[in-house]
Amino acid sequence: MKIIAYGIRDDEMPYVDEWKQAHSDVEVKVVQELLTMDTVDQCKGFDGLVSYQQKPYTAELIDAMGANGIKFWSLRNVGIDNIDFDAVKRNNIVLTNVPGYSPEAIAEFSVTQTLRLLRNTKQYEAKMRNGNFMWAPEIAGELNEKTVGVVATGRIGRFAIQYFQGFGCKVIAYDLFHNPDIEKQGLYVDTLDELFAQADVIDLHAPATKDNYHMINADSIAKMKDGAIIINTARGELVDTEALLKAVHDGKLSGAALDTYEDEVGKFNNDFGSFDAIPDDVLKGMVEDGRILVSPHIAFYTTTAVRNMVQIALNNNKQLIESNGAKADFIVKY
Ligand code: COI
Repeated sequence: MKIIAYGIRDDEMPYVDEWKQAHSDVEVKVVQELLTMDTVDQCKGFDGLVSYQQKPYTAELIDAMGANGIKFWSLRNVGIDNIDFDAVKRNNIVLTNVPGYSPEAIAEFSVTQTLRLLRNTKQYEAKMRNGNFMWAPEIAGELNEKTVGVVATGRIGRFAIQYFQGFGCKVIAYDLFHNPDIEKQGLYVDTLDELFAQADVIDLHAPATKDNYHMINADSIAKMKDGAIIINTARGELVDTEALLKAVHDGKLSGAALDTYEDEVGKFNNDFGSFDAIPDDVLKGMVEDGRILVSPHIAFYTTTAVRNMVQIALNNNKQLIESNGAKADFIVKY
């Protein structure tokens, strides 16, 4: 059995090697480059393909995978919003993803950023770099006194709820699909508007779909409490960045933590060499703003998550190949 794995980073390599040692019957070819029209022909002759990238998997690219004989494709991540599913379908490709590589990692980061915003750590760090160790004016709010609204109660959202409850917060939640445990606790509100009206902290954990594009926009922000904060470790497309920045600058929102950003592709996980070289003035403005925490999509980035992403994807791909596409732990339905 032969699997080709694209876009493997140095930090993933030890986990690929570990998996190879445990599966000596499988040949895994590692390609550092991403899966693009320039590299796709390398998959010819392989039984399965593993990949992770944020760049779009276009129809042209997926047709080229199909033309090279790929039927079994395993993502190392959870998000499927960059995939042309019409092309997946017409090429009869069976796709898997890794939905739960470490929901804890992402939920922990949401809580981290919430605390950092409430305790004004970015402002203090900037002040101290200028020799200013004064307390005022950045007096903090306390997390235990806050109402946290968790948007989407999938794996990650449920851990976020548990962690915020651990701090003593009142938690409310919204999801189109109700989870029985969260339902039992009586946390669901009926509409997003209710959540926006009640929450001091709005914590997003929804996947990006065509229906929730810019769910956080000027209209929804107007419905929020004055001084609310927004935490987005989910998908950049959920937030209209321009509207959010305006609301922070006008003082309607007291801050935001963005681990994802609608224009992040090609920027996050890239080194531009200097601040001036960042090719995005909006992003530069956010990096400099004391009330905005920007991070380059790192909520997932822990050793546990990376090991799981690599090894669960390889397991999925092996299972697909062995069962001729009938069976794997996480087949994506489309
Ligand atoms: C995903 O798994 O879809 C993520 O958003 C994390 C990614 C940056 C690896």
